[in-house]
Amino acid sequence: MKRTDGNHQVILAKRPAGLPQLTDFEMRMIPLAPIGPDQALVQIIWLSIDGFMIARMRPEENYAAGVNPGDVMQAYGVGRVTQSNRTDRHVGDFVFGPFGMQQWAIDDGNPMTRTLDPAFGPIQSALGIQGISGWSAYFGLLDVGQPKPGETVAVSAGAGAVGALVGQIASLNGCKTIAIVGSEAKAAQTVGEYGYTASVVRGSSDFSERLKQAAPGGIDVYFDNVGGDLYDDVLECINTFGRVVVCGRLATAHLTDTAQDFGPRDHNTLLVKRIRKQGFLVSDYAARFTEATSAIAAWQAEGKIKLAEDVLVGLGQAPAALIRLVTGGNNGKQLVRIAE
Ligand SMILES: NC(=O)c1ccc[n+]([C@@H]2O[C@H](COP(=O)([O-])OP(=O)(O)OC[C@H]3O[C@@H](n4cnc5c(N)ncnc54)[C@H](OP(=O)(O)O)[C@@H]3O)[C@@H](O)[C@H]2O)c1
Repeated sequence: MKRTDGNHQVILAKRPAGLPQLTDFEMRMIPLAPIGPDQALVQIIWLSIDGFMIARMRPEENYAAGVNPGDVMQAYGVGRVTQSNRTDRHVGDFVFGPFGMQQWAIDDGNPMTRTLDPAFGPIQSALGIQGISGWSAYFGLLDVGQPKPGETVAVSAGAGAVGALVGQIASLNGCKTIAIVGSEAKAAQTVGEYGYTASVVRGSSDFSERLKQAAPGGIDVYFDNVGGDLYDDVLECINTFGRVVVCGRLATAHLTDTAQDFGPRDHNTLLVKRIRKQGFLVSDYAARFTEATSAIAAWQAEGKIKLAEDVLVGLGQAPAALIRLVTGGNNGKQLVRIAE
């Protein structure tokens, strides 16, 4: 794509009423202005599709600024610097940053933007195993969940980007692991490829019974990527002094009114079983990202950890890719490749 082609973008056309639909998004093209002093131009190659985007489309206050109708959809991306008036970026550098769902982005020194070291593997790994997915799994499990060897760790969305890594890191720490997934195919994959001890498919009326059979000694750490009814079911199986790591809320993030997220209250169980339930944001660990990157790179080099990538091609596929996260259509890290 030549720069003169302008900048194609995915914008939020209207706030989703419930789960996002393709009609909630539109494409537009804007001309590209020349870069200014202290700016660099980035051609985006890979877009990361992440769960946070769902709640960001809602009007309620969040931990970060949301997306309003007419705005470019937020997204992390990896791209190549094609022009630079910045001293810290050179033409040809690969960079990671909060670039948005568009073909071209201006790098004007956002502190999140960083130059990538291609020695760490394929550049898109900075969006998955070597990036937010890997860091979330590493710190969420080890710092918040604090699993001990011999304990049982259950993971919702256990075949997903964060979940698959949590399962493998828990195994590396001597834990038994239970993946909760949306299909028989993912169940086979989590045990066969990611080494989970067992896998349970969600959504059936006998789910609780099957979870108890898969974890006969109960669950010590529940790494929860989704919340919702599944949390209520898993809570029944959590052991005394168990830990619940609240990583994500994909089952409820689309609700237009958070008051609709009702269910059995968990106070009684948390008190009687002395369960610790704690949320976290991966950004809380920014000062330690290098620690996680190094640990994961070492495990990768030893062939002890991996993550499937699920790639759609073309910027216009980005909304469909996002919808896959809430329908369970993705398998591993959901990416969109938008340039060679
Ligand atoms: N706290 C943080 O700082 C942080 C950082 C990164 C990510 N996250 C969160 O971590 C979670 C996982 O992110 P990811 O990028 O790795 O996504 P992912 O797990 O690759 O994809 C989402 C998966 O969630 C499952 N799911 C979707 N709707 C569900 C529902 N209603 N009930 C149960 N399961 C459902 C589906 O798997 P199955 O069909 O197999 O169940 C789907 O494939 C997201 O909630 C994300 O927002 C949090």
